[in-house]
Formats: sequence, structure tokens, C-alpha cells
Amino acid sequence: MAQLWGGRFTKKTDELVYAFNASIGFDKRLLTQDIEGSIVHARMLGRQGILTQKETEEITGGLAGILEDVEHGKLAIDESFEDVHSFVEAVLTERIGDAGKKLHTGRSRNDQVALDMRLYARLQVQQTDLLLGRLLEVLVGIMEENTDTYMPGFTHLQKAQPLTLAHHMGAYFEMFHRDRLRMQDILKRMNICPLGAGALAGTTYPLDREYTAGELGFDGPALNSMDAVSDRDYLLEFLSALSIVMMHLSRFSEEIIIWNSDEYRFVEIDDAYSTGSSIMPQKKNPDIAELVRGKTGRVYGDLMALLTVMKGLPLAYNKDMQEDKEAAFDAFDTVRDCILLFTGMLATIKFRKERMAESAMKGFTNATDAADYLVGKGVPFREAHGIVGRLVLYCIEKNTSIDKLPLSEMREISDRFEEDIYDAVSLQTCVDKRLTIGAPGREAMEKVIAIYKEYLK
Ligand code: ARG
Repeated sequence: MAQLWGGRFTKKTDELVYAFNASIGFDKRLLTQDIEGSIVHARMLGRQGILTQKETEEITGGLAGILEDVEHGKLAIDESFEDVHSFVEAVLTERIGDAGKKLHTGRSRNDQVALDMRLYARLQVQQTDLLLGRLLEVLVGIMEENTDTYMPGFTHLQKAQPLTLAHHMGAYFEMFHRDRLRMQDILKRMNICPLGAGALAGTTYPLDREYTAGELGFDGPALNSMDAVSDRDYLLEFLSALSIVMMHLSRFSEEIIIWNSDEYRFVEIDDAYSTGSSIMPQKKNPDIAELVRGKTGRVYGDLMALLTVMKGLPLAYNKDMQEDKEAAFDAFDTVRDCILLFTGMLATIKFRKERMAESAMKGFTNATDAADYLVGKGVPFREAHGIVGRLVLYCIEKNTSIDKLPLSEMREISDRFEEDIYDAVSLQTCVDKRLTIGAPGREAMEKVIAIYKEYLK
């Protein structure tokens, strides 16, 4: 047992209590942020005349040495300490003597851990933004190559109207772009420094909170010390945004799993991103997509856990808040891995363009266009809808499609059909006539791709 307190106690902490209370097993990953914050805090104490120049130098030098030694494997994090803060302070004091005991002047572990976690989460937000940026690059690459790769568009998972692979990928570009914007937005709100809040009521020392906030890259110090130590909104916002990222990845995964099925065969997942079966030799399974879909539940769970931890907590710090870490770390790690793996899978996936086009031809995806054709010939839309409905029924009975039906047979259903119907219901016409911005027509799509590329530059 190695703890920072004990003066007012007459008994030793029960071993089970100690273990239950300790957080070093997971907060050790905040070591870098803890030392970074402590160095700035010590420098500020020195500038304010609270520490002598010599003490300041001993402390900052000692802290930098600890970080270096841990990073180079010369110093192991001793998990018998209560938390990472106690470990650092104990090693510092062991190394530099009494000056080490002055580091914690004007500070509490409450503002210290609030700072560490904010610094760590800030990095994670930035990293998520970068990873999403790479996913967008892969998407735009696929879009550029597939403005005339025809495929069926679905509603109710039933073939609806033809579109292109570029257009389908563009929908995901929009989703992941919004995810990026959410990261950038969270960053703006979270970039406030809790250091100097003390346990809850600030301190009596003349701290320079503007200085520490600036040195640590924050926009300014938190303006209420109680809120500073007990605010976890930024983590909740981040976990919400990560949950939305996972929801998008999960929808995309689901489509890839469907497209990879024997019934669809729209895609072939690269061998490097598939797995086999121990019993069925023919199997090549889309495990990565399935795992990404599955891990979505765990990230939602992390968000729910933290929302529930925070609910009903009175001001200010409560030990419940220690529970923010494992949930947040789990979500950070899971989402990072999922974006990385998904991006790799997508970058190497093979789209079977002929299969997609063939599928778009079947299933009467051009029925709307056949009706629009009749409207062009002066038939009211509702009537045209009925005519094409009968045409579809006829085709189903004859096991054929509108574009393959002889004109004579079409004219038995309506004499408004003429030779130009075949061009009107070809895949290319169906898609390319959809020209308004946001639609799959080639010209519209090319404008959108240009906007995306400009954005990614
Ligand atoms: N491990 C603690 C946490 O993560 C550090 C803060 C401890 N503060 C306290 N008053 N016991 O929340």
C-alpha cells in the first residue's frame, strides 16, 4: 500500500478496500498527461514565487526524468500505489528529496485528474478526426472510380431505383464527414483548463491560472472551480459522437455483409480482411465487418455507463467519477480499432461491377422511369403508374424485364410506348437523367466529388 494520505487515520486501510479504491491499474495510461500537467503547475508555482527557482528546477527536471525512464523501460509503474498521481509524486520525492513534497502545493487530485483526463481525451478527439479523414479519402477514391458503376438502390431492402456505387459511397462520405465536424465541435467546447480549481473551491495561493491554461494549450481556465472538478460533459459528448461513428460503421458493415453474401455477390472482401471456418472449407467470412457491427453495442454501453454514473451526483467531486476512465478508454480503443480496420477493409475490397449492374437491371428498378416516359408522352402520372404496374406484372409472368420486352407486347398494354422507350429505361439514362445536385447522375456526382476533394485537400 502506498498512498498520499493517512494522517487522520488510526487504522490501516483494509486490503480489499485499498484494492477496490485503487485506480492505478487503468489510470496509469494518463502518466504522460499527469507529468505534463505537473511540470506546468510547478513552473507556474515558481513564477509566482511559491517555489524557489531551485525547487522548481528540481521538480520539473525530476518529472521529466520519470517520464523518460518509464518511456525507455528503465522505470516500471508500480501498481501497489493507489493511482498514477501517487506513484509519480512518490518517485519524484524519492529521487529529488523534500522539494518533491512541494509539487502538490495549491493543487488537489480532483483538479489534477480532471486535467489529465481532459488532456488525454483531447488527443483522442484529434486522433479520431484524423482517422475519419483517412476513411473519407478512401471513400472519395472509390467514388471517383465508380461514377458509372450501376447498382440497385434499395428501400425496405427491396430494389427501388438504379444508382451508382459512387452515389452509395457518397452517402457514407456525408455521414463520416458529419462525424468529423462533431469532433471539431467537441474540441472547441472541451478546451478549458480545470487546473487551479483545487479540491472544489480554488486555493488561497496566488496561482496564475491563465498561464497554466495557455501552456497546456487550452483556450482559458475554467470559470467555476466546482464545475471544473466535476464536469464530465465533454466525455459524454465525445462518447455520444463515438457512438454515432459506430452506428455509421455498423450500418456500412451490415451492407458489406449483405453484399458479400452468396445471394448478392456485389463485393469480394480481400483475403487479408476475411477469415475461414474450422469445419467448412468453402467459407470466407466477413468477420471484420461483423465485429465492427458487434462492437457498436459495447461503445453504446460505455456511453450508457457514464451517463448513469453522472446521473444524480451532487456537486462537486465524488469518487463515482473515477468510473469515467475504464468506460472512456474502452470506447476510445474500440472506435480507433474499428475505424482503422474498416478503412483497411474498404481500401482493399473488390466491387463486382458486372454483378451490381446485372442486379440493377433485374427487379424493375427502371419502373419509375418507364412511368416518367409515359408522362413525357402526355399520360397523367397516376395513369402511367397503373400502366407500368401492369407492364411489370406481365414481365414477371413472362420472366423478363421491361428493357427486354418486344415493343409489340408493350403496346398491347399501352399504345403510348414507342421505340424510344428502350433508351428511356436503360440504366445509363435512368441514372444520368437524375441531374439535380445530390442525385446519382454523372454530372451531378462529379460536382459533388470535386467539392469533397477540395475539402480533403
Ligand atoms: N483516481 C481518482 C479519480 O479518478 C483521482 C481523484 C481522487 N480524488 C479524491 N478526492 N479521492 O477520480
